[in-house]
Amino acid sequence: SRRVRTRDLVTARERGERWAMLTSYDQYTASIFDQAGIPVLLVGDSAANNVFGYETTVPVTVDELLPLVRAVVRATRYALVVADLPFGSYEEGPTQALRTAVRFMKEGGCHAVKLEGGRRVAAQIAALTTAGIPVMGHIGFTPQSEHTIGGYRVQGRGDAADEVLADARAVAEAGAFSVVLEMVPGEVAKRVTHEVGIPTIGIGAGPDTDAQVLVWQDMAGLRTGRAPRFVKRYADLSGVLTSATRQFAAEVRGGGFPGTEHTF
Ligand code: KIV
Ligand code: NA
Repeated sequence: SRRVRTRDLVTARERGERWAMLTSYDQYTASIFDQAGIPVLLVGDSAANNVFGYETTVPVTVDELLPLVRAVVRATRYALVVADLPFGSYEEGPTQALRTAVRFMKEGGCHAVKLEGGRRVAAQIAALTTAGIPVMGHIGFTPQSEHTIGGYRVQGRGDAADEVLADARAVAEAGAFSVVLEMVPGEVAKRVTHEVGIPTIGIGAGPDTDAQVLVWQDMAGLRTGRAPRFVKRYADLSGVLTSATRQFAAEVRGGGFPGTEHTF
C-alpha cells in the first residue's frame, strides 16, 4: 500500500470509518505506530512537555521540532505526518505562517501542518492552503494559549458552544482538511462533526468525532501520575522500563551481566 493522503480521510468520513491518530517524536515509535496501522501521526508541539521537559508548549521552537519531524517522516511508510507550528511561529500573520510552514514542509518533509485557533487564524490557514500546504486546525482548548485561558479547562460549555462552532466553520471555510477538537463537551463535538464538512479529531471531546488522538506517552503509560480524564492507558511502559532498568543495574552490580554469551 501507499502513504495516506488527506483525501483518504475525507473518504473515511464519508464511509463512517473511524481512525486513530497518535503523536510521535522519534523513529522507533513512528515505525511501530506506522506498522500498527495508525494512519496519521502528529509531531506535536507537545514535544515541549513530552520530549524536552518544558512546563508548557509555549517555549518550544521551530528549530527544536524540525529534527523530530525529519525522524518521524524517515521512519514511516504509510502514515500521513502532520507537524505542529509552535507558539510564536505563525501569529504575526499569513506571511509569517507561510514562511514557517514552508520550513516544515521542505526541511521537515512532513505532509501537512497544524496550528491552533479558529477565526483568529483563518487568514493564516487560507494562505497555507492556497500555497498547497494541507492544514489541520485545532480548536476548543488550545494549549499554546493556556496563560490566557487560565489552565487546562473545558471549552464550549453552555452558550460558548456557539463560539466553538463558529471557529470550526471558520477553519473549514479557510480550507483546513480536518480539525482537532480538544476538551469540548461531547455534545458540542457531535454538533461540530455533524454541521461542519471536514473530518473532526477529538481529544477529550467524546465518542462522536470522526477520529481520536492521544499523546503516545499517555496512551502507552510512559507518563505516570495524574492524567486528564480523557486519557486511557493501554499499557504500563513506565512499569516495564522501570523493572528492566532495575534488573540491568542489579545484574551489573551482582556480576550477572555480561555473561560469556555477551563476551567476545
Ligand atoms: O501537540 C499535541 O500533542 C497535540 C494533540 C494533542 C492534538 O496538539
Ligand atoms: Na499541539
